[in-house]
Amino acid sequence: MIFDRNNQKQVVALLGAGSMGTAIVRRIGAGRKILLGDISPKALERVGEDFRRSGYDVETMQVNALLKESVEAFAEKAAALGPVMYFIDTAGASPNQARPEHIVDLDMIGTGYAVDAFGEVMAEGGAGLIISSQAAYMYPIPNDIELQLVNTPTSQLKDVKFIQEVAMQDSGLAYMIAKRMNHLQAQRAAATSWRKRRARINTISPGVIVTPLAYDEFNANGDGYQAMIDASAAARTGTSDEIAEAAAFLLGEHARFITGTDLLIDGGVIASIRTGGFRLG
Ligand SMILES: NC(=O)c1ccc[n+]([C@@H]2O[C@H](COP(=O)([O-])OP(=O)(O)OC[C@H]3O[C@@H](n4cnc5c(N)ncnc54)[C@H](O)[C@@H]3O)[C@@H](O)[C@H]2O)c1
Repeated sequence: MIFDRNNQKQVVALLGAGSMGTAIVRRIGAGRKILLGDISPKALERVGEDFRRSGYDVETMQVNALLKESVEAFAEKAAALGPVMYFIDTAGASPNQARPEHIVDLDMIGTGYAVDAFGEVMAEGGAGLIISSQAAYMYPIPNDIELQLVNTPTSQLKDVKFIQEVAMQDSGLAYMIAKRMNHLQAQRAAATSWRKRRARINTISPGVIVTPLAYDEFNANGDGYQAMIDASAAARTGTSDEIAEAAAFLLGEHARFITGTDLLIDGGVIASIRTGGFRLG
């Protein structure tokens, strides 16, 4: 079945073909070439087929976001398909899914590899988006340490004393620090490698969004999550489609003056924490 003969398409590359990532790509992928990357061949097969049957032009590639070479090969594949206009990184693990070292390796260093690799291939006018988390706002890192982290090459991040002595001690801390680091990674790229290519990059920090990843968190700490949600202004969880709506804006042409920044979409959880309405346990 061939309905689509355009072979000059802009490329949308997604690393982490999970709930939020696929919702975002559905919003922006029509008429473009979509490259889905994930560690899970089953997820790639299922999501790829679902997209194809819905009229999208999709290729898939198995990628391990933990491995620099694998992420670089993914960026090269994207560039070989056409001008890379959009890159979205949602590959991540949550605190109740993994040990601290895996969270540091995936959510922090893996994201760094991806931002670095796509900083070599983005097309002029292109845009990138990293999915961080509201957790990035829960553990303030001292300014001097943030400056040190932002100036440390991705492959050396694990050697930083703060990462060894604080982040590697506990999965929750590892997650909060890794997700804050995503903001810094986007800022650094926006000011350096991505800037040189005249491409933009931002982060979104979602609150509790109902996805398989969130179910693992609820199963481990349901009461804590419920109390946090009850204390927030929205008093409910969010959906991947709500994140995709904002992502489409940040990636799109109306956001051309927005780069190196974070958009917190949490239904007011962080506002309630900052103003004493909810205390983290
Ligand atoms: N769901 C939430 O409540 C929530 C809230 C805040 C932030 N986040 C963050 O959003 C992002 C997306 O989460 P989601 O809820 O859509 O989860 P999800 O589990 O649906 O998607 C994550 C995807 O990443 C893939 N992945 C895992 N390890 C990988 C690896 N080594 N290489 C390549 N791919 C890998 C998984 O196979 C999965 O398809 C994550 O970074 C998560 O930390 C989620």
